[in-house]
Amino acid sequence: MINYLQITPDLLTYVRECSAPESDALRGLRERTAALPEAMMQVPPEQGRLLTLLTLLTGARRVLEIGVFTGYSTLCLATGVPADGTVLGIERNQQWLDIARPFWDRAGVGDRIETVTGEAEQVLDAMTDPFDLIFIDADKERYDHYYEAALRLARPGALVIVDNTLHFGRVVDPEAPTDDPEYERMRPQYRALDRLNRKIAVDPRVDCGMVPAFDGLTLCRVRESGDQGGVIDGAWPEPKRQPSTVPTAGL
Ligand SMILES: C[S@@+](CC[C@H](N)C(=O)[O-])C[C@H]1O[C@@H](n2cnc3c(N)ncnc32)[C@H](O)[C@@H]1O
Repeated sequence: MINYLQITPDLLTYVRECSAPESDALRGLRERTAALPEAMMQVPPEQGRLLTLLTLLTGARRVLEIGVFTGYSTLCLATGVPADGTVLGIERNQQWLDIARPFWDRAGVGDRIETVTGEAEQVLDAMTDPFDLIFIDADKERYDHYYEAALRLARPGALVIVDNTLHFGRVVDPEAPTDDPEYERMRPQYRALDRLNRKIAVDPRVDCGMVPAFDGLTLCRVRESGDQGGVIDGAWPEPKRQPSTVPTAGL
């Protein structure tokens, strides 16, 4: 049996001591964000470091982020793309972007970051250009829509990262009875994430892995048509062919 570590405060401090140090801009942005009541929306520094690393490892040049907030994760992604790369961030609240921009500029990567202020669903539906890496971190009830949009916009082999997929661990039993009004308010999120997690697990369009750290992070490599990816002994379903745009009736 695998025993995962309990991340105690001491252990988290240790992890932070043994992580590559944050840049001045990242630290400044984190401290500025910490003064906000919504600060817990920001990814923690060690997850930010992982986002930079994944961007570097995949060689991503075109990155899409759905849900920017004050731009900590955006800055981590932008640090990983090459100088001529871009990160496009979608965020409905301009006030968060106004906080983010000076820190992005201070980090020297402001020219790599473009933002669109608006409702993610509509912005995504109007987009067509492909991306190498897509990070989903907005409103959880619409995650399935964002996931489908991400697969449509991902080039073959791209990485789609879905945040909060274990959402406080509540995905295990999203129908759990409770008298807690806060739990009841959040229940649609737990349900949506549980449905999406189960869908991704058997989605023949991706190779996926769930990281039981942070608030749960799912990594999906988008398969090409006919690509068997990491299928072992047929344990996963055969990839579906991409639907043809040419009518095949009668052929
Ligand atoms: C969890 S926070 C993102 C945190 C950010 N990735 C970071 O690590 O700092 C989610 C963000 O998505 C934005 N958001 C939520 N629903 C949205 C929607 N439908 N369209 C656009 N932005 C949305 C919120 O305003 C919020 O800033």
